[in-house]
Amino acid sequence: MEKIIELKNITKEYDGEKVLDNINLDIYDKEFVTILGPSGCGKTTTLRIIGGFEMPDEGDCIFDGKRINDVPAYRRHVNTVFQKYALFPHLNVFENIAFALRLQKVPEREIVTRVQEMLELVALKGFEHKKVTYLSGGQQQRVAIARALINQPRVLLLDEPLGALDLKLRKDMQKELKNIQTRTGITFIYVTHDQEEALTMSDTVVVMSEGRIQQIGTPTDIYNEPVNAFVADFIGESNILDGVMIKDRLARFAGKDFVCVDGGFDPNEPVDVVVRPEDVDFVDVEKGMLTGTVTSVNFKGVHYEFIVDINGFKWMIQSTDFVEEGREIGLYIEPDAIHIMKKSEYSGLYGDYSSYSDELDELSNADDVEE
Ligand SMILES: Nc1ncnc2c1ncn2[C@@H]1O[C@H](COP(=O)(O)OP(=O)(O)OP(=O)(O)O)[C@@H](O)[C@H]1O
Ligand SMILES: [Mg+2]
Repeated sequence: MEKIIELKNITKEYDGEKVLDNINLDIYDKEFVTILGPSGCGKTTTLRIIGGFEMPDEGDCIFDGKRINDVPAYRRHVNTVFQKYALFPHLNVFENIAFALRLQKVPEREIVTRVQEMLELVALKGFEHKKVTYLSGGQQQRVAIARALINQPRVLLLDEPLGALDLKLRKDMQKELKNIQTRTGITFIYVTHDQEEALTMSDTVVVMSEGRIQQIGTPTDIYNEPVNAFVADFIGESNILDGVMIKDRLARFAGKDFVCVDGGFDPNEPVDVVVRPEDVDFVDVEKGMLTGTVTSVNFKGVHYEFIVDINGFKWMIQSTDFVEEGREIGLYIEPDAIHIMKKSEYSGLYGDYSSYSDELDELSNADDVEE
């Protein structure tokens, strides 16, 4: 595949503060790329630089092999969909979608054909004469997407476009957006702080923190082989332990030696070890590689979520087997469930569930939906 956009050594400061720090990113034609990271990490700023609404202080933005730093937004083959739909309230659905074509003085017959195509694409056939203010949030966002796609941009930038929708609608729209992207073959650059959304929709995920790219990879790469404790913690739940690589394929953590599948570290190199909650099996105490005490149990519908104290470090374990609170239990971990990461500035910050509270977790998820 051809590269369509290249960001090269992009740096951006606001008020003397670096909000983008040496961003390097290649985006390929027809790719669905998601920029994922916590609030304030620089996602929107990155999009605005690609869209031409913001100039980088240093570095280059390349489109189809040509430097476009000085090309104004309206001359780039890029369109944007924002979280707030910004539709024209006085126009109906048809005229909102037709707007760009009217400006370009496209003949009426062609406008009708192209708007019909767009209505079909976003599943809004029959809505053309409705006032946009009467539409639901999800329907308004479809109009915004149709409006952004009608002049056939090469790249569509989407900045948390589903952020204002409730969870159920959001899931439906995720599927639909993915469909639209596949059908049109337009490159999508999608911004979200929702890791599940990023994993379900994308060909490539770009994880950012504090103005820097932490990892670029497929959803499975990012989930299975996080490069550091930040990525491991941000993508799903993770037990992250301090460890040592004794030699290739042998790691020591939690006071024991474990066979693993990683290599390429120095002998006795200090490392971070990630074990996902669903990758730990409960066994009898005498068969356990580790033993621990269950300190809390939560039923999650498909599985139970346990907090297990292993020598003072609290692990999260998910299992369909029920074990009651207070029980001592053995734990078994397959070699390929042990992921070894280099030490980083994020070491020691994440991965222990001592202060974990289910209630707090749900509260923060509720915040996400409201934002
Ligand atoms: N025009 C501006 N002037 C000054 N500071 C800005 C400006 N735009 C962004 N910033 C700052 O730059 C940093 C990155 O902002 P950005 O909007 O790119 O973050 P984000 O990842 O999109 O966050 P969110 O998920 O909250 O939308 C933030 O600290 C923000 O306050
Ligand atoms: Mg933003």
